[in-house]
Amino acid sequence: MKFDYKKYIRSHLLSLIPYQSAREEFEAEGRSMILMDANENPFESDVNRYPDPMQRELKKEIAQWRGVDENQIYLCNGSDEFISNVIMGCCEPGRDSIMILPPTFGMYKVSAKTYGVRIKEVPLTKSFQLDVDSILKTADENSKIIFIPTPNNPTGNNFNLEAIELLIQRFPGIVVVDEAYAEFSSNSSVIPWLLKYPNLMVCQTFSKAQGMAGARLGMAFAHRDFINFFNRIKAPYNINSLTINFALKRLKEQDGVNTQVDLLLKERKRLEEAFTEISFIKKCFPSDANFLMVRLDNSNLRYDQLLENGIVVRNPSKNLNCENTLRISVGLPEENNRLIEVLQSLS
Ligand SMILES: Cc1ncc(COP(=O)(O)O)c(C=O)c1O
Repeated sequence: MKFDYKKYIRSHLLSLIPYQSAREEFEAEGRSMILMDANENPFESDVNRYPDPMQRELKKEIAQWRGVDENQIYLCNGSDEFISNVIMGCCEPGRDSIMILPPTFGMYKVSAKTYGVRIKEVPLTKSFQLDVDSILKTADENSKIIFIPTPNNPTGNNFNLEAIELLIQRFPGIVVVDEAYAEFSSNSSVIPWLLKYPNLMVCQTFSKAQGMAGARLGMAFAHRDFINFFNRIKAPYNINSLTINFALKRLKEQDGVNTQVDLLLKERKRLEEAFTEISFIKKCFPSDANFLMVRLDNSNLRYDQLLENGIVVRNPSKNLNCENTLRISVGLPEENNRLIEVLQSLS
């Protein structure tokens, strides 16, 4: 595919000479060497050596799992790190902007602000779908990235795939489709679209269905020129050995993960049904993720009451069009039972 990634990135980074680990030169060959290059402690402790900066073994497995080439994968310390990297690498502070679609995941804005990058907001429609016309009208030549989380956080719904595709075709910059909740979604992933749209980047995470939030591992899939670019600007050892090994193990346990996902989807349905019986829950929004957003009579009151009963949920009410809502993650069956019991007991 003929594609010039250079027009999407910050020009001063084109000449960056990346940090080079001495081991990089022979690591790919897999030879056994005496390692005297990195000032490590030579006594074996499982983690006394720096990890592979390019995470080759893990990327090989992920490539098979997700049906992409290894050189289309960038691994990061949670998708949060990828969000930060793509903004830092592609947006000129003070000049460029990212586009976000409220109500949306909060880290896009936080990251842009930390880099002094402008933010253009185009609200979702009343049914929390993409307003393609307004987005395209608002975008200009300095709109470098648009973030589209589907299923969306905090609302939980999927976006229409045709609308996403239209945006990828028409948006002047990079379209990041954030599929953090992909395993729970009834939509298929847009990863196969990478073959036709070089301005598309897809990110996923091990934090949700894969049950590894504490290990911090995110994945971005993109054109290999972008991946090369991210590898050049990243911290050399951004994924630690413990995380790499845990993820390799988890990839062999996908039957178990799928069983958990199925159970969580059944539990989500059970919660949804139970919520219809609670008088102060006015609406439960349709979800394609492992959480439900509900609208209630008074979100602050209900949030506090749940807290008093030992249940922590999220209050996203300050987000646009989310007045008086709570976002509730689907828990274990016994935790969901307790939630239902507490909700039933509240007046
Ligand atoms: C839409 C979305 N993207 C990204 C993330 C961050 O995921 P990670 O744990 O991989 O940093 C979240 C976490 O809640 C999310 O909801």
